[in-house]
Amino acid sequence: MPGKAYEGEGLDRVKGRGRKEKGERRREKGGEEQLIQNGHEDKPLYDPSLLRDLDFEGDKQVTYDPEISPQNPGENLLMRPLCRSDFDRGYMVLLGQLTKVGEVTREEFDERFSTMENCPDTYYITVIEDTTTGQIIGSASLIKEFKFIRQCSARGRIEDVVVDNAYRGKQLGKLLLDTLTKLGKRVGCYKMSLECLDKVVGFYETFGYRKEEGQNYMCRRYQPK
Ligand SMILES: CC(C)(COP(=O)(O)OP(=O)(O)OC[C@H]1O[C@@H](n2cnc3c(N)ncnc32)[C@H](O)[C@@H]1OP(=O)(O)O)[C@@H](O)C(=O)NCCC(=O)NCCS
Repeated sequence: MPGKAYEGEGLDRVKGRGRKEKGERRREKGGEEQLIQNGHEDKPLYDPSLLRDLDFEGDKQVTYDPEISPQNPGENLLMRPLCRSDFDRGYMVLLGQLTKVGEVTREEFDERFSTMENCPDTYYITVIEDTTTGQIIGSASLIKEFKFIRQCSARGRIEDVVVDNAYRGKQLGKLLLDTLTKLGKRVGCYKMSLECLDKVVGFYETFGYRKEEGQNYMCRRYQPK
C-alpha cells in the first residue's frame, strides 16, 4: 500500500520483513521500503532487516561484556545501514578520524550515495547513531565483489572501520566487525578480507582474519585529486 506508514504488527507484513526496532518505523513508498527513524524519513543503502536477522545467539565469534548486538548496541545507540541524510549527522566528520576526506559537498555526497544505491547487493555501509545527539559515531563498510571464478561467486571486503574517539573502548568496533563479518557470510561471500595497519592486526585476528602464508598485500598509489 504505497504511501502508508506501517507501524506495530502491520510492519511484520511489509514484504515479509522483520520486526520494528526502537525508534524505527517503516514505510513502503513507490514499491520501495523507507526507514523512518527518530522522525527522519530516509531510504537506507541496503535492507535493514539483514542486520536484524543475523544470528548473534548461535554463531558467537567473540563475546561481549555487557552483551550487545546489532539490535541492541547499547543505550541510546542504533545500528543501521547508512542513509542519505547521514551527511547531516556528522558521517563525513567521523570518517575524518580515519583518513583524509577532503571537502565533500552535499551534492558530491548525494551523487556518490546514488552510485552505491544503484549497485544493489554490493555496498553494505553500516553505521551506529547516538540517538540522543543524532550523530553518527561509528561506521564500517562491507563491499561485496562479484566474481566469475568459483562458479560465479563473490568475496567481501571490509573497509573504513572507525569509531568516534569519545565512544572507543565500548565494544562498538568489535560489534561493527562482528556484524559485517557475519553479514558477509549471510549475503553469500565465500571469503572476506581487509587491509590494516600493524597496530590493529590483533584486533582483526579476534574475528578469525589471518595473514595467509605466501599472500601479500600490494598497492600502487596515484596522485590524489
Ligand atoms: C580500531 C577501532 C575501530 C576500535 O574501536 P573500539 O570501539 O575502540 O574497539 P572495541 O571497544 O570494540 O575493542 C574491541 C577489542 O579490540 C581491542 N582493540 C581495540 N583497538 C585495538 C587496537 N588498535 N589494536 C589491538 N586491539 C585493539 C580492544 O582492546 C578490545 O579487546 P577486548 O575485547 O579483549 O577488550 C577504533 O580504535 C578506531 O576507530 N580507530 C581509528 C580508526 C582505525 O584505526 N580504524 C582501523 C583502520 S585499519
